[in-house]
Order: sequence, then C-alpha cells, then structure tokens
Amino acid sequence: MRHYLMVRPAYFDVEYSINPWMDPAKPTDTGLAIAQWEWLRDLYLDLGHRVELLDPEPGLPDMVYAANGATVVGGRALVARFRHRFRRPESAAYAEWFARHGYRDVRQAQWVNEGEGDFLVAGSRILAGSGFRTDPRAHREAAEFFGLPVVGLTLTDPRHYHLDTALAVLADDLVVYWPEAFTEDSRRQLEQLYPDAVLAGAADAAAFGLNAVCDGRHVVLPQAATRLAAQLRERGFEPIGVDLSELLKGGGSVKCCTLELRNGGEQQ
Ligand code: ARG
Repeated sequence: MRHYLMVRPAYFDVEYSINPWMDPAKPTDTGLAIAQWEWLRDLYLDLGHRVELLDPEPGLPDMVYAANGATVVGGRALVARFRHRFRRPESAAYAEWFARHGYRDVRQAQWVNEGEGDFLVAGSRILAGSGFRTDPRAHREAAEFFGLPVVGLTLTDPRHYHLDTALAVLADDLVVYWPEAFTEDSRRQLEQLYPDAVLAGAADAAAFGLNAVCDGRHVVLPQAATRLAAQLRERGFEPIGVDLSELLKGGGSVKCCTLELRNGGEQQ
C-alpha cells in the first residue's frame, strides 16, 4: 500500500506558459480536468492506496501538480521552492499541510527545488534532475537533509523539463527512461546504475508516458503510451492507462498529480 497526496484541480487553467506544453490561447475545461483527476484518485483507492488531499487555492492554477510541492522520505518533508513566480505561493500550503499532519521535520528548500518533479526516490538513493527547474545546488541540500546519496542528472529537452517527465522509478534498482532527454554524461551514469533499465521510445516519451506512478506491481501511466505499456507488461508489471488529456495542457500527467508520502512513524 502506498500513501499519496493530491490536489483537486478546482482552479485548474492555463493562464501563463512556463513550459512548452502550455498554450494560454487553447481553451481548457476545468470540469473535465476534475473528472479525469477523480478517475485517477479513485483508481489509487481501488488499488488499495491511501490518498490525502490538500486544499486547492484560487489563483494557483498549477496546484493540481502535487508532485512539485515537496519530497518526503522517512517522514521528513523538504518543501519546494519554485522557479517561476506564478507557483511560488504554493510552498506555504505544503509547509502548513505537513506541519498540521504531524511531520516534525519540515523545511523549505533554500535553492530552487521542484519537489518530486525533479527528485525521484529509488531505494536508498535519490535521482535528481536539473537543467530547467531545480537548481543543482538543491541536490546537495537534499542529500544533507535526507542523509541519502543523490545522483544528479541533467535534462536537455525543454518538453521534458522535469525529471519525472523523462524517467520513472519501477523498483529500488529498476527505472524506465527516455535516453534522449538527458546529456551524454547523464545517460552514461544511468546505464551504469541501471543496466536492466526499460528504455522508452520517442513516441511514448512524447505522449508523456514516463510520467508514471509505480506501486511495485501496477504502473499507472498516460493511456496513449501504448508501446511502453507493452514493454512494462513484458517485464512483469501491470500497466494501467489513464486519460488526463486536460492536465496535459498544463504539461503534467499521472506522476505530476501524485506526491508520494514516505512516512516515518509519527504521521497518521
Ligand atoms: N504547469 C506546471 C509547471 O510547469 C506543470 C508541472 C508538472 N509537474 C511535474 N511533476 N512534472 O510547473
């Protein structure tokens, strides 16, 4: 069973553009965004997971992308510091939520740090992206805060501006990624760390297929990533495709909407 934090897209809209997927001229349908999001939340509940909710706030249309709010390991929460001013007020909501829910070790990152958008926990190491959002200095800060080794990976493609749009963790020692999203150095590092990794193709990456959530057995991913789903099935996972087309207009999908709470003992 996993424990997730999500934010209902009650005020979802594309009012500005801070990634290549966002076109404020394209109409959005908040009602449809909510329905698609509810489908994802219900799926997690059906799979036996626990889902906590953080209240959305008017004027913060990107708040639905909960993955960006923090990184939580062993009950310690490192709260985000957003690169763009539009999202900066979100940090206070996360800090307050963690404080209210019994997390004693809550700190806002000193350097720009977009939470699980760029920090992916893989067993006893953390994979950390930079290149577009998270400041590489935030990698060292996270390593010190959590007391875990952090492997820095550099992203090169603006459509894959967060690590969680280019790589997903499947198990402590298994990841799936799209190599072209990374510098050559980072690709080499990934090959060394994960010789058995699942390599996604360009079409699935473009369909946001890497923005997936794995609970150890099921992999919830955008339904358009059909070839990737077949690759995962071959490796013994159960892929479950979902349609989050509205939320894709903001540059996010399954993983972006899901912050994993890896709790210690004190939190309920
Ligand atoms: N519009 C949001 C942004 O650009 C999307 C965030 C997607 N989240 C993620 N974890 N990749 O910040």
